[in-house]
Amino acid sequence: MTEIPGRFTIAIDGPAGAGKSTVGERLAKRLHAVYFDTGVLYRAVTLAALRRNIPPDDADALAELAGKLVVAVKRPSCDDGRQSDVLIDGEDVTWEIRSASVDHNVSEVSAHPGVRAALLDAQRRIGRSGRVVMVGRDIGTAVLPDAEVKIYLLASLQERARRRYEQLRFAGSTPDFDDILEEMRRRDTIDSERAASPLRPAADAVLVDTDGCSIDDVVDRIAAIAEVRLGDVVEAGQPT
Ligand code: DC
Repeated sequence: MTEIPGRFTIAIDGPAGAGKSTVGERLAKRLHAVYFDTGVLYRAVTLAALRRNIPPDDADALAELAGKLVVAVKRPSCDDGRQSDVLIDGEDVTWEIRSASVDHNVSEVSAHPGVRAALLDAQRRIGRSGRVVMVGRDIGTAVLPDAEVKIYLLASLQERARRRYEQLRFAGSTPDFDDILEEMRRRDTIDSERAASPLRPAADAVLVDTDGCSIDDVVDRIAAIAEVRLGDVVEAGQPT
């Protein structure tokens, strides 16, 4: 394998259901990097807001909440399918942040510039803390525009909804496919049309279309792109 630097960030952005978290976690393992899913921060703020009855359009209250909430993301403490433990003020909310009510409100909450600003420094610190694979919507464009590798994962709405449908069925629920598709379409629209760091590929991102591809295929493709790019960084002696 090509020599890779001791410190780098691989930014993986893309819409819901494009496979960012599965692919990101596997890629991180392969490159001996830390995996970090920034979506959990927005989800934690949304859950905390719902619990406090703060409406998703109350920009000031949400920004204040995002600024003071203590969210910890740690190595998984048990083997129940979680990628990490997510704690709010010490309480394990790993699965609660995946609830339908959080799904429904998180795009609106995360569209507020004040909420995004409150979460920016923490993401930058984590992203620059070593070898990191960071997934989200705006990592390559706004959080770490100088990331060494930028990937934008694509998949059709139909395919992404199908994957989410299968995930939920596998987890034992009886989802409605059309509801999932509509909810995803709604979130795509809010995430990509918001004024503050909308979902879009960075100018220098590599677009990776995952329609019809297995997870292993996608991980292989991204690992190959990353190795070339990180090899160039080492060769050029760029500070990492
Ligand atoms: O990836 P996810 O579905 O867990 O993300 C939940 C929401 O969080 C998503 O709809 C938009 C928001 N988000 C964001 O605005 N910026 C990020 N970097 C990550 C997530």
